[in-house]
Amino acid sequence: MKPGTFITFEGIDGCGKTTQIQLARTFLEKQGNQVITTLEPGGTDIGIQIRKILLNQKNQSLVQESEMLLYLADRIQHLKEVILPALEKGNLVLCDRFHDSTLAYQGFGRGLDLKLIRSIEEKAITPHAPFLTFLLDIEPKLALKRTEEKYAQRNQQDRLEQESIDFFERIKRGYQQLAEASPDRFVCLDGSKSKEHIHQQIIKTLETRLSERKSF
Ligand code: TMP
Repeated sequence: MKPGTFITFEGIDGCGKTTQIQLARTFLEKQGNQVITTLEPGGTDIGIQIRKILLNQKNQSLVQESEMLLYLADRIQHLKEVILPALEKGNLVLCDRFHDSTLAYQGFGRGLDLKLIRSIEEKAITPHAPFLTFLLDIEPKLALKRTEEKYAQRNQQDRLEQESIDFFERIKRGYQQLAEASPDRFVCLDGSKSKEHIHQQIIKTLETRLSERKSF
């Protein structure tokens, strides 16, 4: 087992995970942990360049398989450059999205074969699966309302945010299936609840799961 602890936050766009990561970081640091927060796509310099390609709304011709491979390329770069070295040093790594996003978005959302995605992930990514994953589950309509406020600030939607409600419904159901298949790793939270309520649930889980891990 690596000395550090890898924790991921997942959910559809607008589910509130980015806010919860910041709150969790503050809490964990106050407890004396060394914490790093990072994200996908875009957790490295190369990843930032990949993120630009992926989210640029002009790239409508990007084919599904290329999109999937770009997310995986970003992930492998991120693992080797940021996540694994931080875990080796004993840090707690909080990551905004990881491989469940690819299964949910490219697999369930786009309809790419899950077996194909998993076969590519098998060697370089699957062995580094997170210890714990928080899934913020929310109705796409509510999430869309929240992201619309974000678009208003930056004046445009990105390539993924432009997708239909049906796309996000499929992703939401996909995440539920992924969570059901790995009940020990996933903690599902109601993303429609208040920021503070969700944060308290996250704290409770972290306290229990991290103390169990230390006592191994
Ligand atoms: P973000 O807005 O949460 O930073 O994520 C950027 C977008 O990329 C978001 O719409 C989800 C999408 N995405 C995928 O489609 N597949 C993936 O593997 C990842 C990591 C993100």
